[in-house]
Amino acid sequence: MSDGLENVVAAETVMSEVDGQRGVLIIRGRSLDDLAGRTRFEEVARLLFDGFFNDLPDDLTAALGAARAEVFGEVAALDTGLMDRSPIEAMRALTARLADGDDLATALRLTAAPAVFTAAVVRAQAGEAPIAPDPGLTHAADILRMTRGGTPTKAETEALDTYLVTVSDHGLNASTFAARVIASTRAGLTSAVVGGISALKGPLHGGAPGPVIDMLNEIGRPENARQWIEQALARGDRLMGFGHRVYRVRDPRADALKAAVRKLREGSNSQPARVEFAEAVEAAALAILKEHKPDRALDTNVEFYTALLLEALAFPPSAFTCVFAMGRVAGWIAHAREQVAGGRLIRPQSRYVGPAPLKAA
Ligand code: CMC
Repeated sequence: MSDGLENVVAAETVMSEVDGQRGVLIIRGRSLDDLAGRTRFEEVARLLFDGFFNDLPDDLTAALGAARAEVFGEVAALDTGLMDRSPIEAMRALTARLADGDDLATALRLTAAPAVFTAAVVRAQAGEAPIAPDPGLTHAADILRMTRGGTPTKAETEALDTYLVTVSDHGLNASTFAARVIASTRAGLTSAVVGGISALKGPLHGGAPGPVIDMLNEIGRPENARQWIEQALARGDRLMGFGHRVYRVRDPRADALKAAVRKLREGSNSQPARVEFAEAVEAAALAILKEHKPDRALDTNVEFYTALLLEALAFPPSAFTCVFAMGRVAGWIAHAREQVAGGRLIRPQSRYVGPAPLKAA
């Protein structure tokens, strides 16, 4: 038995390849270097969906815009009970209200849902009215507009597109596996996506970037980094944004996002020093992790520069995991469709290690 299913191949997929030894990510035959910064989210979603829906249009922009407008109706269900929940719990609850199905219309509603619901939740929790989608905008531009109000700059929209594309799919990560298991029962796309959101939420998966910001804020200055990190490791804490199940080298997504946040910060003159500070913390963390765990290659993962990029785009850290879901939802849907198209029910076995039944007296 493999603990945590490490190194177990549990599915064949055309979606993406994660080469953990070389630090390479390929999404449907295109390398991340080729996609990130050059492709809009709608294009990568179409790439992922291609072959898994009969009626897929050449360009998803208008259809996804219409789907945003359609699911906005569900925002009315954001009641006081959900207002006290974390953004991801509130967004998940609203997403779970959507009807299950396997068709393209369901897929587009689900692709729109994390974006529309997160923006509404973030605004409502800040005491502001939700902003209705503008179906004429691109998905990334409308996400920024619905969340913050106003018109985002081109550079901000490009930075968010880079992020959404970078996290759109990543092999059989925990949330995608969860989505495939659910899809394999033929439960439907909504069930698979809600399962994906639930798995993504944990700090060992998509919940890490909010705590990265807490770490940076607590460290405060580069000269405090070593002491803070050593104390955290001495307590038995894990450093958020470092380590990966598959990568034994640097996560290629970290570099794609670092380049995007650097471009954004330098372009707007808004605190390029923040990136330099993060680099200093990263360098200290890598050096200390090497001393702390010499036998385990622990490098920077996607979440470290995710935190910096989403902070620069003015998303609240409490909603960072929701923004991850806005990108990964395309991968969950594509994997769910692939599972239904070619896969059997996923039903592994367990080995019983509990007590034998008591003999009847
Ligand atoms: N900080 C300190 N120690 C670590 C870290 C870390 N970030 N990551 C792993 N280790 C240690 C871990 O304590 C363990 O030590 P020991 O053998 O003494 O118990 C050893 O390295 C191996 O760890 P593991 O838990 O067996 O490794 P894994 O493959 O199960 O974990 C991971 C992968 C991402 C859950 C883990 O590296 C981690 O918890 N990282 C911090 C959280 C984080 O950044 N999560 C985002 C992951 S990337 C986004 C995604 O694709 O999901």
